[in-house]
Amino acid sequence: MNTFKKDVLLGLSESPRWLPCKYLYDAKGSDLFEKICDTDDYYVTRADLEIHEHQISEIAQLIGPNAHLIEFGSGSGIKTELLLSSLRAPRAYTPIEISKTALDASVTQLRQRFKSLEVQPLQADYTEDIDPSHLTLEPSAQRRVIYFPGSTIGNFTHDQARAFLARMRKMAGSGGLIFVGVDLIKPVNKLLLAYDDKAGITAEFNKNLLQRIQTELNGRLDLSAFEHESRFNHELQRVEMHLVAQRSTRIEVDDHVFEFDRGESIHTESSHKYSIEDFQTLAKDSGLNPMRFWLDGHAQFSMHCLEPV
Ligand code: TRP
Repeated sequence: MNTFKKDVLLGLSESPRWLPCKYLYDAKGSDLFEKICDTDDYYVTRADLEIHEHQISEIAQLIGPNAHLIEFGSGSGIKTELLLSSLRAPRAYTPIEISKTALDASVTQLRQRFKSLEVQPLQADYTEDIDPSHLTLEPSAQRRVIYFPGSTIGNFTHDQARAFLARMRKMAGSGGLIFVGVDLIKPVNKLLLAYDDKAGITAEFNKNLLQRIQTELNGRLDLSAFEHESRFNHELQRVEMHLVAQRSTRIEVDDHVFEFDRGESIHTESSHKYSIEDFQTLAKDSGLNPMRFWLDGHAQFSMHCLEPV
């Protein structure tokens, strides 16, 4: 059985029902996600970029010359270029990315722009352990710098985030540095809107998952019976995306039948929000020393610099 089907059958059988967020990102989902990033309601994109634009020289100063930059995710275009062009004599750049298409595109672009930079792409799932032999320090480089902008760390639970930070620490090694973007806690209405934009793109993005069940698994379901909803979970300090049944309905895959009552939901993704202090505590718990952090002008988003202790 393919893993998508296996995960769907498993997630829909549990209570509460859920689906792994990675299935949101097929070609159509990735396309919709880019569009979400361009909406005004998803403030994260601009806040993150603003920090880069205003603080890049200070960040580059902290990193110093001869760095080997390792990015989780393929070069996020403009931010990576800003950083690389601000660094003094960067020696190597390793983007780690699961999608070959995304990786190839960013590598081509960066090789053209930075002709003397050693670009060493690594096609891998950065949420899994990476064989250290794939990540040898470029001989001419002095330190490893792990770069993880955006707010992807928010998609992990606190336990997962601690484990992930501990792995980044190992990868950076002593003398290395870690830069990570973290979205901040803020008024709930603002948070909910960011995950349920007025133009309805996030709704379409979330519902694409049901469409995939229909087309790829021959699932029988009524798309119009489900609505996208963003919710704030106060206890866990996170925004959750749900697909909520508007009436009693069912999803059938092969001979499996999942009955939904009206109001019952499928939880598809979470985005945890932090205060500066709470994130720094999480970093310390993972053996990292918070060195500095930067905020955008409205204190909506943060970028942290951490060093292995
Ligand atoms: N990881 C980012 C975040 O949690 C981006 C993201 C993931 C996102 N899924 C999303 C943004 C759904 C909007 C809607 O903020």
